[in-house]
Amino acid sequence: MPASKKVFVKTYGCQMNVYDSERMTEALAASGYAETSQIETADLVVMNTCHIRERAVEKVYSELGKVRDIRDARRARGLDTQVVVAGCVAQAEGAEIIARAPVVDVVVGPQSYHRLPELLYRSRSEASRVVETQFPDGEKFAGLPDRSITPLRGDGSVQQASAFLTVQEGCDKFCTFCVVPYTRGSEYSRAVSDLVAETERLVTRGVREITLLGQNVNGYHGEGLDGRTWSLARLISRIAEVDGVDRLRYMTSHPRDMTDDLIAAHRDQPKLMPFLHLPVQSGSDRILAAMNRKHTAKEYLEILHRARTARPDIAISTDIIVGFPGETEKDFAATLALIERVGFAQAYSFKYSSRPGTPAAKIDDQIPEAVKAERLARLQELLDGQQTRFNANFVGKTVPVLFERKGRSSGQLVGRSPYLQLVHADADSAFLGRIVPVEIAAAGQNSLAGVICGL
Ligand code: 5AD
Ligand code: SF4
Repeated sequence: MPASKKVFVKTYGCQMNVYDSERMTEALAASGYAETSQIETADLVVMNTCHIRERAVEKVYSELGKVRDIRDARRARGLDTQVVVAGCVAQAEGAEIIARAPVVDVVVGPQSYHRLPELLYRSRSEASRVVETQFPDGEKFAGLPDRSITPLRGDGSVQQASAFLTVQEGCDKFCTFCVVPYTRGSEYSRAVSDLVAETERLVTRGVREITLLGQNVNGYHGEGLDGRTWSLARLISRIAEVDGVDRLRYMTSHPRDMTDDLIAAHRDQPKLMPFLHLPVQSGSDRILAAMNRKHTAKEYLEILHRARTARPDIAISTDIIVGFPGETEKDFAATLALIERVGFAQAYSFKYSSRPGTPAAKIDDQIPEAVKAERLARLQELLDGQQTRFNANFVGKTVPVLFERKGRSSGQLVGRSPYLQLVHADADSAFLGRIVPVEIAAAGQNSLAGVICGL
């Protein structure tokens, strides 16, 4: 179908949203929308939102104010603009969004993206606002179009070296600070056969690295090829058999679900990259209990010990929250001590943000903003130092790099090492989508730079 209309998609938050935005763009392409990066030219604006922290929600409303101005300017020129709010803010706020931002035509939760073209049609033909935030289990993936029959992003010719693949969605862990169990619903795992088929289609588009995504990805328990329930480790070994897949990753994991077979996969499966993103959130057992994480700091360290025994060079990454209600200076010191013990390659750290409807929001002892900011600064100084040291260790070594895109300066490409480090190198664009040995010449906190061997 020739593309006659344009869609602008803005994505906030996690990789799951990046994946969902791609799938929505593909579903819209099938109904005649081409993607644009210029919002002023868009007949359809989709905001794929994140609800994990409060600031993210406020940002959405302020962006919607700007979208209203753009819509009004287009309207003055006789052009129509439809506005969709998708993602976790859509799920959590529902009709409230339309009350606060009447510019919005459709509010669609993450489980109903396959219905987006129909919802847009309904909104337009009935001149009404549509809110769709049901949880129909599993329908979403079956309802989205096959990936091979829809064009790639951009001009359709760009090959994509690394892709996300959502294998699991939702979470049953109910950490007391987190909205995900409410916005994404309970855990649902896609069937292995569907995931193998989607992987095969991705490979035909030039993808060589696949990151298996899930809010609680190592809790994966999908229907296997033999009709039984398969674990993430079994899924990984089957996906690794797909011709053309050279690298596999997975995120995000929960410490409680780091099973022996998954740890063994890091030893036995050469395509599984030596990188583990395992959020710890806090190093204090008292806070971990209040967070309902269901493990202690010692148990977390034991898991990492097992992972490092299986794969000695494995790089460890984490998420940490400072200023959870009731966090004392002693609790915070325990977090710093845990970080010292582990030596993280990379980490995401956040100030605790109270989310309405979560148990932690009801705890009396909320930590003042200034204390949170001060603790975050100390924490980040420690983590930044660890990341810088981790990277500095690579100077003089040669690592295989999968080149994914062009760099900012001309003649330069950017790729990833097995340890997920960004690597810059001067190279012809013929190297895009290839895995090439690069000798590392320089390292910074956020990236490495090197020279392709043999060039
Ligand atoms: N406040 C701050 N950080 C949060 N996260 C989740 N919920 C909150 C919250 N209410 C962080 C956790 C999680 C990451 C995705 O976001 O560290 O692992
Ligand atoms: Fe949220 Fe905890 Fe589930 Fe992660 S494991 S998505 S932090 S409830």
